Amino acid sequence: MGKISTILVAHFFILITVLYSSQVSIASCIKGERESLLRLKASFIDSSNRLASRKGTDCCNWEGVGCDHTNGGHVVKLDLRNYEYSPSSALLSNGVDSSLFELKYLNYLDLSANFFNYTQTPIYFAELSELRYLNLSFTYFHGTIPRSLGNLNKLVDLDFNNDNVILDVMGYLYLGVLFIDGLGWVSSFPSLEYLDFSGIRIVQNENSSEPSIDQIKNNSNEEDELEKMWFWIIVMVGYGLGFWGVVGPLILKRSWRSAYFQFMDETKDKIYVTVLVNITRLKQRMGGNKMRD
Ligand SMILES: *[C@@H]1O[C@H](CO)[C@@H](O)[C@H](O)[C@H]1NC(C)=O
Ligand SMILES: *[C@@H]1O[C@H](CO)[C@@H](O)[C@H](O)[C@H]1NC(C)=O
Ligand SMILES: *[C@@H]1O[C@H](CO)[C@@H](O)[C@H](O)[C@H]1NC(C)=O
Ligand SMILES: *[C@@H]1O[C@H](CO)[C@@H](O)[C@H](O)[C@H]1NC(C)=O
Repeated sequence: MGKISTILVAHFFILITVLYSSQVSIASCIKGERESLLRLKASFIDSSNRLASRKGTDCCNWEGVGCDHTNGGHVVKLDLRNYEYSPSSALLSNGVDSSLFELKYLNYLDLSANFFNYTQTPIYFAELSELRYLNLSFTYFHGTIPRSLGNLNKLVDLDFNNDNVILDVMGYLYLGVLFIDGLGWVSSFPSLEYLDFSGIRIVQNENSSEPSIDQIKNNSNEEDELEKMWFWIIVMVGYGLGFWGVVGPLILKRSWRSAYFQFMDETKDKIYVTVLVNITRLKQRMGGNKMRD
């Protein structure tokens, strides 16, 4: 009798201890990361108060925040997407606050459909080297997309859809323009499966080390029909607009083997191209000799 009750009591204490410690580890959120999240929150004008739930010590329980409890409890996911796609629910900020880039363990970041006031896309995204998913669509950035994004070598999904038509539908007239300096840096993403650069213009900087349109055209001689079409489109867009192309919804899927092109000639400087093309082939093309197989 005494033995059994001792065992029961022991079990009871073990159970309590286990429950308590698991509670503690779930409830804990790294203090520095919580402070970064709070500073980020404070940097937004949040007129619909959708970040209001972000208080209390356990930042891992905040809406849109995810922590990896198996690996130090770091914040690995931040989803700030404006799911209502309306201006009233958008977060407004005059640029991305640097506190975001302190969350070094993020592998999922969605800032889509919020309003960054035509500021430059920060180069610091490149510091979030664990990122696998980055969604910067409809974020009202302006200017050159930093090439340093090409350093995000774990990236699988990169959505930078900046289609003016959709942006205007969102409620703020888009007054900016986004461009990328060549497409060559796309080849530096080893794991990329999804890329959307809709509405973004390609500029071919004379001083850049990107392959020129002529070189691309030259290299495509031995390629099959599919790739010829792809290069023909780049060439056409490039020449047609005096090296100012517009990359339309450029969606690349590793597994897709067919190509589908759709042109819509809307205005002189706006051509939408839909290209579904095998990314590994594109990478071979853009990467030139450094990625021969
Ligand atoms: C956006 O920038 C303009 C001027 O550049 C400024 O007047 C305005 O307050 C900014 N808006 C926000 C939400 O920061
Ligand atoms: C990125 O966000 C936009 C708008 O919120 C959404 O429509 C799109 O599907 C997202 N992209 C990916 C790859 O999840
Ligand atoms: C290219 O480099 C030259 C000098 O090195 C500079 O004068 C020129 O502005 C550069 N052009 C561009 C488009 O950056
Ligand atoms: C294209 O190839 C031809 C010969 O095959 C060469 O003479 C020409 O310089 C090349 N052009 C470019 C831009 O590489």
